[in-house]
Formats: sequence, C-alpha cells, structure tokens
Amino acid sequence: MPVDDCRIIELPKISDPRGNLTFVESERHIPFDIKRVYYLYDVPGGAERGAHGHKNLQQLIIAMSGSFDIVLNDGVNQKKIHMNRSYYGLYICPMMWRDITNVSSGAVCMVLASEYYDEHDYLRDYDEFLELVKSQ
Ligand code: TYD
Repeated sequence: MPVDDCRIIELPKISDPRGNLTFVESERHIPFDIKRVYYLYDVPGGAERGAHGHKNLQQLIIAMSGSFDIVLNDGVNQKKIHMNRSYYGLYICPMMWRDITNVSSGAVCMVLASEYYDEHDYLRDYDEFLELVKSQ
C-alpha cells in the first residue's frame, strides 16, 4: 500500500478551560474496529522503537504526551511525520515499515490497533518486508 494511504486524522477536540477532551470512535473517526490498545512510555533518550511492518494490522498512533517522529516506508517511498498533539492520530495502513525516533523525555505513544496481538503478523526483517512488497 502506498505511504500516502497513511494520513493524519484530526480527532474531535472539546476545548474547555478545565482542560481539553478528545475521543476516538471505531469506524467513525478511524476506518477500523479497535481490538487492542497499547502504549509506549518511559522510553530512554536515544532509544528507537518500531522497526517492523505488519501484514494486516491497521493502527492509529497518538502522541498522548510529548513528541516523537514516525518514519513510514512503503518499500519505495518514505515520509516522516512529527507527532506532538493529542488530537492528531496517524493512521497506518497494512504493509508499512515504521520507525519511531526522536522520542522526547516523558513522551507517551498510544496505539489503537485493529487486531489482537499476533507475532505472525509482524515483518521484523526489512529484506523480507521488501520481498513481500514486490510480490504483491
Ligand atoms: P513490539 O511491537 O516489537 O514493540 P515496538 O513496536 O516498539 O518495536 O513489541 C515489543 C514486545 O512486546 C514484543 O516482545 C511483543 C510484545 N507485545 C505484546 O505482547 N503485545 C502487544 O500488544 C504488543 C504491541 C507487543
């Protein structure tokens, strides 16, 4: 799938002097049903996460706190997205290599996922990812 299928989705934001509120509803704001939520936190300075692709999984990534970069690569084209707002979600379609870099101190990266955890869905080897891209 082309990297341009991945896009920033602006989520509803209820601004309030008491603090803002954002919500995400399956199939309404994002194009999949949420089966799993996980988050990365306490990431040490300089550490990088991601470095894999998924065969089928769709995800929405939100910077709940702090900031980080996500580098997306469809095997041909690449783009880097800076995430630093809690009301922006990055939709990631299947067959997309992703690297998460420049994680700020105290950052929390929340991921909404379309499937339960399944190690068989992972592509952890970049050459294997490229081969699968070419065969599709
Ligand atoms: P991984 O997806 O490789 O993390 P990252 O995307 O940051 O590289 O997952 C790291 C470890 O956590 C790996 O051993 C699998 C495990 N894990 C689960 O058990 N359940 C999950 O939902 C996720 C996302 C990971």
